[in-house]
Amino acid sequence: MLTHEDNELLCRVGPGTPMGNLFRRYWIPALLSDEIPEPDSPPVRVKLLGEEMVAFRDTNGNVGLLDNNCPHRRASLFFGRNEECGLRCVYHGWKFDVNGDCVDMPSEPAESNFKDKVKITAYPTVERGGAVFAYMGPREKQPPFWNFEMFTLADNHIFAGRTRAYCNYMQAIEGNIDSSHISYLHRNLADLKMTDFDDGTDVPGFPSAKMSTKIRGTSRTPSLELQETPYGWRYAGIRITANGHQHLRITTNVFPIFNMVSRLPDQDIGFSLFVPLDDENHWRWNFSGKLDRPYTTEERETRTSQRGELDENGKPLRGPWNDYLLDREAQRTVSYSGVTGVQAQDMAVQDSMGIIADRTEEHLGTTDQAVIHNRKVLLKAARDLMEGIDPPMPDPSIVVKVRSHEEIIPGDADWRLYGAYAGEDAGIKV
Ligand code: FES
Ligand SMILES: [Fe+2]
Repeated sequence: MLTHEDNELLCRVGPGTPMGNLFRRYWIPALLSDEIPEPDSPPVRVKLLGEEMVAFRDTNGNVGLLDNNCPHRRASLFFGRNEECGLRCVYHGWKFDVNGDCVDMPSEPAESNFKDKVKITAYPTVERGGAVFAYMGPREKQPPFWNFEMFTLADNHIFAGRTRAYCNYMQAIEGNIDSSHISYLHRNLADLKMTDFDDGTDVPGFPSAKMSTKIRGTSRTPSLELQETPYGWRYAGIRITANGHQHLRITTNVFPIFNMVSRLPDQDIGFSLFVPLDDENHWRWNFSGKLDRPYTTEERETRTSQRGELDENGKPLRGPWNDYLLDREAQRTVSYSGVTGVQAQDMAVQDSMGIIADRTEEHLGTTDQAVIHNRKVLLKAARDLMEGIDPPMPDPSIVVKVRSHEEIIPGDADWRLYGAYAGEDAGIKV
């Protein structure tokens, strides 16, 4: 459990809050590139860390991310005209470029230099793999852009997707780093009957996808071990297999909130993160990358429709308003939860905890150690920043090597030697 004060510290991210200040020190995704598909296309509203903004793509293709409100008399630039390398407020015609400079002020006399004195807040952006990232912190503290392995690939090898979710972002972060729930929330009842299944891959090495499902479905009390690393931390969910080996699912976390859920080596690389629009809503961002080839158009369309689940008017089909279409008959006969789809299952339980979960009422058990550790490091970094201590900045030469991992290892082996950037070779004390 947390004190009320710590819970507030953890969850509030608006301007001037300690956790909000912490996240403003890192590049975070703000919008999808295809929301502003071409030069001079219409501006769109963006909400991030409690701030209202507009994004636009100028005539040269550069992305601007500006304060929503015109500095003249505060009209919204969402109504603006995107033309000739700038976004022009329709109220009195003031025009701003992607850097926030006022480049035209037709309502003032031609000889006036007032426009040179007016600026609008503009955040730096980087566009990669179909997403626009923003840096919202102090300019002198701006770090280099993320050096994830994925961003060493060409943009067409990367897929970025996101889904709107309806509760505080921290509930989603804590869902992703809780390996024990997959044996419950995400279990299909048929997996329980897999006890006799054996395709010969319950041996040290990489299990088949089906063997992986069997192990996760039938072994419901993993031991969880956490290891601090130079980039953040990683932890293993360890299940003893029918043949007495250890099945590892290693989840990695690059500070502050970039999470790589365990994957087999033949699966795409990727990471996810949960980014607050404000204290009560967040985006679930998923980035995946193909090492060997670009995504096909078909693969992109399939992923988009799986993520989006939108009706013909672009509205989400499921949400807290219809209990994610919980089906009690399916709960008896098909799946543990009765909700279809992994993401919807996660979202259903996460926003059922309350818009901002009351962590003073929790009772944390042994499987919650990653959750506890994550809170500890985030709260420490936020408090340190209040004291003027800069937050941890993962070393780009290390970040590029980080991956999650799944493997079966001998029963007596040390899991900390396995996976990418692991063990003594990586200078990590075992
Ligand atoms: S309010 Fe924008 S130009 Fe006047
Ligand atoms: Fe989940």
